[in-house]
Amino acid sequence: MLIAQLSDLHYRLEGDRLFGQVDPHRALAAAIEHVRGLNPQPDVVILSGDLVNDGGAEEYAGLARMLRRLPMPVYAVPGNHDRRELTREHLAFTGVMPADGPLRFVVDDYPVRLICLDSLAKGVHSGRLGAEQIDWLNCELAAAPDRPTAIFLHHPPFRTGIGFMDEIMLEDAPALAEVVARHPQVGLVAAGHVHRVIQTRFAGTLAVTAPATSHQVVLALSPDIPVAWVGEPAGCLLHLWTQDAGIVSHLSPVGDFGGPQSFG
Ligand SMILES: [Fe+2]
Ligand SMILES: [Fe+2]
Repeated sequence: MLIAQLSDLHYRLEGDRLFGQVDPHRALAAAIEHVRGLNPQPDVVILSGDLVNDGGAEEYAGLARMLRRLPMPVYAVPGNHDRRELTREHLAFTGVMPADGPLRFVVDDYPVRLICLDSLAKGVHSGRLGAEQIDWLNCELAAAPDRPTAIFLHHPPFRTGIGFMDEIMLEDAPALAEVVARHPQVGLVAAGHVHRVIQTRFAGTLAVTAPATSHQVVLALSPDIPVAWVGEPAGCLLHLWTQDAGIVSHLSPVGDFGGPQSFG
């Protein structure tokens, strides 16, 4: 099974630039073409939040139109730039989003069970799952202890070393870690939000963040580096599951980098 994770689309309508330079519409179009050109084709696409940049209804409608170009099922969780009700209204075409409350759901149709969490917290850029959602997760994991499972959410539950992003990470990361640690079938916790690829050990499993399809965030590992975006390559993560190896995650950058060419 192959899962494509696209993150931080920050979608804006065609021609509407971000920071005067970034073109999220064009960047998403390129990412969609990239996914359509992958061999093998992913079985499913997960969008890990910041689906639109400014949370407007027209942007969600435009995003939904773009996503129809993808031939495989697409599932989305909200990020801090999203509005929950507009996400539900425009991106519910995959049929698994609950009719009300947090946009958390389980996709049970594949060899890997996909658990999507809603870390959107009103009025702040940091994330929060809340005790009720963490209990729900614990019950869902307890119900299928033998199924390989991947968890998707927007806010990473770990410190990345990029200080200004760590200030707006998942607030209740310790509570999530406590639940994940109880369920060894969790092979992956995959987030977005940081607009960079980062991995760490988390609660006995692997936690990763995905690159953005739009702009990337500067690699600010020193506190004197100011908050900034950079034009490093956009990309997606491809999470490959096989019976023998479990979940293995690959970076697939979007763009023309030359090749492939023979080693000979
Ligand atoms: Fe973002
Ligand atoms: Fe975010």
